[in-house]
Amino acid sequence: MFKKTVSFLASGRGSNFENIAKKIKSGEITADFGILISDKKDAKALKIADEFGMKSFFVDPKKYPSREDFDLELVSLLKKAGTDLVVAAGYMKILSPLFIKSYKNKIINIHPALLPAFPGIYSQKKALDYGVKITGCTAHFVDEGTDTGPIILQAFVPVLPDDTEDTLSARILREEHRIFPEAVNLFCKGKLKIKGRIVSIG
Ligand code: GRF
Repeated sequence: MFKKTVSFLASGRGSNFENIAKKIKSGEITADFGILISDKKDAKALKIADEFGMKSFFVDPKKYPSREDFDLELVSLLKKAGTDLVVAAGYMKILSPLFIKSYKNKIINIHPALLPAFPGIYSQKKALDYGVKITGCTAHFVDEGTDTGPIILQAFVPVLPDDTEDTLSARILREEHRIFPEAVNLFCKGKLKIKGRIVSIG
């Protein structure tokens, strides 16, 4: 089967990126490495890319007059690398409609809550403050909204009485590291079909 090329966008520590990259390297996920792009110069993800011998780019948003110009540069780098799937792994910038159109249904994100609950940032804190007893994480396709795209996989995580934002985030992260690579793998195997906002697997 034709192997998909997977590229990554990351802004921070890159644990999800590293976790997926390991599985691509070991062959657990059948895919080729594309590139990693970060909008933050000091993102740990850039160092991790080096460790995997992956081509990486820091693209400085300040150097572009608009979000669209910045995203045009990103899309051009991704296309040059032959990217079939874009994995947003802790990428903190909102993607412009131009970017989404260029990779329609080919961008996957991980969100640290059970969508549609608690979209946006600080989702773990929002879950604690709201008093929910169960939260979790969601692997989903990215559309023009904020964390509104079709849902691929979800995992639940109980909220414990003495949880802090840190302990809850750590427990959610373990589940992110389980379902995010699974979602990428399903995509790479051509097993995800999208109809409207419903994703069917298999
Ligand atoms: C994760 O909590 C993810 O859910 C959110 O950003 C964080 C990224 O963590 N989208 P890491 O950089 O992958 O370690």
